[in-house]
Amino acid sequence: MKRDKVKKGEEHLKEVKEKSGEAGKKAMIAVYPGTFDPITSGHMDIIERASGLFDELIVAVSTHPEKNAWFTLQERVEMVRQSCQHLKNVSVQSFQGLLVQFVREKGARVIIKGLRAVSDFDYEFQMAAMNRKLAPEIETIFLMTSLPYAYLSSSIVKEVASLRGCLRGLVPDLVAQRLIEKVNEGRR
Ligand code: PNS
Repeated sequence: MKRDKVKKGEEHLKEVKEKSGEAGKKAMIAVYPGTFDPITSGHMDIIERASGLFDELIVAVSTHPEKNAWFTLQERVEMVRQSCQHLKNVSVQSFQGLLVQFVREKGARVIIKGLRAVSDFDYEFQMAAMNRKLAPEIETIFLMTSLPYAYLSSSIVKEVASLRGCLRGLVPDLVAQRLIEKVNEGRR
């Protein structure tokens, strides 16, 4: 019964697209940028949800700011790539320089950002406003982080790791392993 309704919905969407002439339209590509030092379960929540909204999602790992990064750019890209293997329309790339330039080069029109709490707002608002000034044709779309991850950030995860706290559920398992290795190596 439920499946029939879903099928009807899909057929309806197809009809709407055909009527509006959208059937032959280009795929909608979105870019989700960040430093991902390292990727957390909160990032994964946003990636999984955004991948369901767009034809293609590019996770863009930034080279900046790297001053206090635990992981090199290559390590961060690799961890994101491995964590997103199950999502067929998600690819992972690194970028340097202006985000809007990268977005344009990829033929994308949308930047995805996650919003956790009011504390994120000022910084995110400023970045979205500047990106809009630089590239008015690109929209920033904010997804509210799912509640279980509202308190989560890469920095707090690194603090827990360095104090040998339990990382289960905070980051993908492969990332937890990498964090533990870093701490055990005495590098953090
Ligand atoms: O994970 P973060 O630290 O919130 O990511 C910040 C990031 C990488 C999205 C931001 O620093 C960025 O967009 N850097 C690229 C440089 C740029 O375009 N700056 C002008 C935008 S205001």
